[in-house]
Amino acid sequence: MIICRTKDYQDLSRKAANIIRAQVILKPDCVLGLATGSSPVGTYQNLVKWYQKGDLDFSNVSSINLDEYRGLRPDNDQSYRYFMDTNLFNHINIDKSKTFVPNGLEEDSQKACDDYDQIIETMGGVDLQLLGLGHNGHIGFNEPSEAFPSGTHCVDLAPSTIEANKRFFASEADVPRQAYTMGIRSIMLAKKIVMVVSGEDKAEILKNVVNGPITPQVPASVLQLHRDVVIVADEAALSKF
Ligand code: GLP
Repeated sequence: MIICRTKDYQDLSRKAANIIRAQVILKPDCVLGLATGSSPVGTYQNLVKWYQKGDLDFSNVSSINLDEYRGLRPDNDQSYRYFMDTNLFNHINIDKSKTFVPNGLEEDSQKACDDYDQIIETMGGVDLQLLGLGHNGHIGFNEPSEAFPSGTHCVDLAPSTIEANKRFFASEADVPRQAYTMGIRSIMLAKKIVMVVSGEDKAEILKNVVNGPITPQVPASVLQLHRDVVIVADEAALSKF
């Protein structure tokens, strides 16, 4: 596990974007595993900027997102499909038909999850997986639990996740209670993993992720077992090391 220490969020965003840029240059038809949340927004802004300058070409890139709220329409401004379109896909030359997000509108959760696992398999796996880190150690929406979930599954969001994400919704009551998320096994099968972590409020959990025991109670701790992980974190997030 490599820890890439950055000065602040801006520096973090540039460095994380540089790692993704290298991936796209080295393998133009790569499969990117993408994440939502506030942490990767700056990373996406840098990728858009470099694309606009002509430094990057996404025409052969495909993407698979980690998760989606169950029940939200793709055009709902809080859906992760909408997030990806507005923060990245609408501004680069990626072929949108090759960008995948779980289908939040599929009411049959078994079908939604099986379909998504099928897509991941058809794509041949993820070359580079970008991750954020939840305050309770979740990655994607893999919440603390008794065991590491394997494939795509439907989760009941933890009360702390609903609390953390309510800032994006009109009220807490509007936050969906469930989501479809890629499982830990699918995440761990990515060839390379880049996790972006910013802010002092993540310092305690980041210390547990890196130095604590590997346990499904801290889902991201499983990353200690992956052979190619880079954690790009700012000084505030690393303040407890
Ligand atoms: C959400 C997402 C995660 C994300 C996490 C942290 O719950 N499902 O993929 O990593 O929140 O978000 P933020 O970066 O806004 O702290």
